[in-house]
Amino acid sequence: MSSEIQVPVTDNTGIYQPGKIRLLFNTMSRTYERVNYITSFGFSSRWRRQFIRRVNPSAGKVKIIDLMTGMGETWPVILKHFPAAELTALDFSPGMLRFARQKNHKKYNDAVQITEQDMLHNELPSAHFDYVFCAFGLKTFSKAQLQQLAAEVKRILKVNGQFSFIEVSVPRGGFLKLLYTWYLKRLIPVLGRMLLGNPAEYKMLAVYTSKFKDARHVCKIFADAGLTVKYDSYFNGCASGIHGIKQ
Ligand SMILES: C[S@@+](CC[C@H](N)C(=O)[O-])C[C@H]1O[C@@H](n2cnc3c(N)ncnc32)[C@H](O)[C@@H]1O
Repeated sequence: MSSEIQVPVTDNTGIYQPGKIRLLFNTMSRTYERVNYITSFGFSSRWRRQFIRRVNPSAGKVKIIDLMTGMGETWPVILKHFPAAELTALDFSPGMLRFARQKNHKKYNDAVQITEQDMLHNELPSAHFDYVFCAFGLKTFSKAQLQQLAAEVKRILKVNGQFSFIEVSVPRGGFLKLLYTWYLKRLIPVLGRMLLGNPAEYKMLAVYTSKFKDARHVCKIFADAGLTVKYDSYFNGCASGIHGIKQ
């Protein structure tokens, strides 16, 4: 166990501690991909396809990074849209990356460059990437951490480089909000228990989502960092995101 951990993984205090988040995803890594697909009724795959299309495509040999890559769930849509891309994938959870490495070997001939780093303290080169993508990796960052993230995205992008992020969100509308909150807080942990036996970790995802709400604040933080950015809403706000460019 990491020495950074000061609180149990399913305790609501100190929820943005990197060590706690790393442990949470390590614990869920055996089941995350399946549970994510089943509990989102396939929406997570659809949303990944949609958020990639927010940027202008390129057939060239562009450099792309998939941040908070998990097990590489977003790689298929990235490589479909950018078939000649040099793809780098970053995550700090050894558990998630173990499966990403297996996938890389079996399906991608080890073509994806996987790097195990904390995005907030990374060694990525400056002005290096044409595109930055990130699916479902925003909710576990505090406001201060999101400011750090925005500065890092700006640093690693080339001028005219583009980015797109998406995250599960809480819809603003009355009935849909109630239904979705019930689904996140009650149904996902039950499905988590039925499918894998660790509902407490999946309950924590609902805690992060209800605190995150939607990506409006992320949009402002990225704009304040000097990036040109637009807010995106998916399926009546059940997911939200941002996309934009470094001018
Ligand atoms: C919900 S998963 C998303 C995985 C994948 N992108 C997807 O589309 O399903 C979030 C991932 O972000 C990673 N993560 C969270 N904070 C991070 C940080 N500071 N640096 C690197 N990875 C981080 C976690 O380890 C986890 O694998």
